Amino acid sequence: MQEKVREKIEELQLQFQQEINGALDLEAVEKLRIRFLGKKGEVTALMRGMSQFSAEERPLFGKLLNEFKSSAEQILENRKKELKEKDASLRWEKERLDITLPGRPFPLGRKHPLTIISEEIEEIFSCMGFQIAEGPEVETDYYNFEALNIPKEHPARDMQDSFYINPEVLLRTHTSPMQVRTMEVMAPQLPVRIICPGKVYRRDDDVTHSPMFHQVEGLVVDKGISLADLKGILLLFTREMFGKGRELRFRPSFFPFTEPSAEVDISCIICGGSGCRTCGDTGWLEILGSGMVHPRVLEVSGYNPEEVTGYAFGIGIERIAMLKYGIDDIRLFYQNDLRMLQQY
Ligand code: DAH
Repeated sequence: MQEKVREKIEELQLQFQQEINGALDLEAVEKLRIRFLGKKGEVTALMRGMSQFSAEERPLFGKLLNEFKSSAEQILENRKKELKEKDASLRWEKERLDITLPGRPFPLGRKHPLTIISEEIEEIFSCMGFQIAEGPEVETDYYNFEALNIPKEHPARDMQDSFYINPEVLLRTHTSPMQVRTMEVMAPQLPVRIICPGKVYRRDDDVTHSPMFHQVEGLVVDKGISLADLKGILLLFTREMFGKGRELRFRPSFFPFTEPSAEVDISCIICGGSGCRTCGDTGWLEILGSGMVHPRVLEVSGYNPEEVTGYAFGIGIERIAMLKYGIDDIRLFYQNDLRMLQQY
């Protein structure tokens, strides 16, 4: 009868051996453990069938079964360990750093063409002793118009031309209000010598006009300032900005806050003055408005027009950038098309 006992156990061992060799992952090993050693597993079932053996056979059967149990536990444990190690080394293979791979190019940002031009203008005037001032884009009617001697019926004051927030407050239509704001703060100190770059807003939208654009205001106030000083500074500026050969032309004009007023042209940077499409065959390009500060503007800002004089100018930054870079549509500056922006 002992043979029958051994046979039974050997059969179990054989089956277990075969199955363990086929268990290729941790899950399969665990399933196997449950099937053989679990509460409702093969070993338990055999224990229950103990009664089929005689009283002499039972101890041997029990002993063999226990031996199987502990060796199976050992084998399962080893198999689990083996699989875990294999798993870890596979993962290591997959995650290993390959330091021979070429790096990924890191796209660097760059300055917007308008920023470049702005900074260039600031640099030129800084070198000539100007300080840089900044002011609010949301401005009062007083600073934007009233203090600048712009009469009530002036077209710029129209709702159609300016962005009003309420009847007294609007988005500034030019940087000129900074003339008054600066003088108010500085009076009676002399000299006043500032530029003020910034955004301005108008109800305009076509290839050469944008509802938001940029200007640089310039203002100098001191004893004995004349139109010659204005001409000198603007000639220096133009030649720094556009090159040595540039000529300037002052055209009489009108602005309520300057007297006299002039619009300033430079000799065409494309044709040099002989006439081309860019300058409309005139040989000249308009770049800014300027003039001698109106006595009333000096007065409301705290300076005595009997004692001091001043000049002012307003440069359109987009205008300068378009001329310098040969851009014919102002909207290109605001579309954020990288093909455009990466060229500068
Ligand atoms: N503020 C004027 C404009 O936006 C430009 C301007 C003209 C500014 C003459 C000045 C100036 O300072 O003197 O059209």
